[in-house]
Amino acid sequence: MREELIKYAIEARKNAYAPYSHFNVGAALLTKNGKIYTGCNIENSSYGASVCAERVAMFKAVSEGEREFTALALVTDTKEPVMPCGICRQVLAEFAPQLKIYSATISGIVKETTLDKIFPDAFTMKNLGG
Ligand code: THU
Repeated sequence: MREELIKYAIEARKNAYAPYSHFNVGAALLTKNGKIYTGCNIENSSYGASVCAERVAMFKAVSEGEREFTALALVTDTKEPVMPCGICRQVLAEFAPQLKIYSATISGIVKETTLDKIFPDAFTMKNLGG
């Protein structure tokens, strides 16, 4: 499943719209029921309106009614695999604090971790209301 998810992220990366950073990212998110939702980064001339690949994948999935996720693949053309940005970590933690993360480079290096390892003590729903 890891390799399949990475393949989906590689495909999704081809749709990246990154004319400002030229940093193309692909993501693929696996639901508990085995469905895969993909995303790519989508930049904007008003830079702050840009969205990362991970959030695009998660928002697509949640907007289709998905709530439970088991793994995320992320693909970049970098020397070393990269990890999701801080905003994406917060968004991913809303639905999948234990999410498995497979970050791969186009050259084939894969780093495996979990969201709770790279985003410990997340602020979540349970912190609200006292
Ligand atoms: N980006 C992602 O899509 N995911 C990441 O994990 C890191 C950063 C995007 C945001 C922006 O379009 C470009 O990469 C450079 O930061």
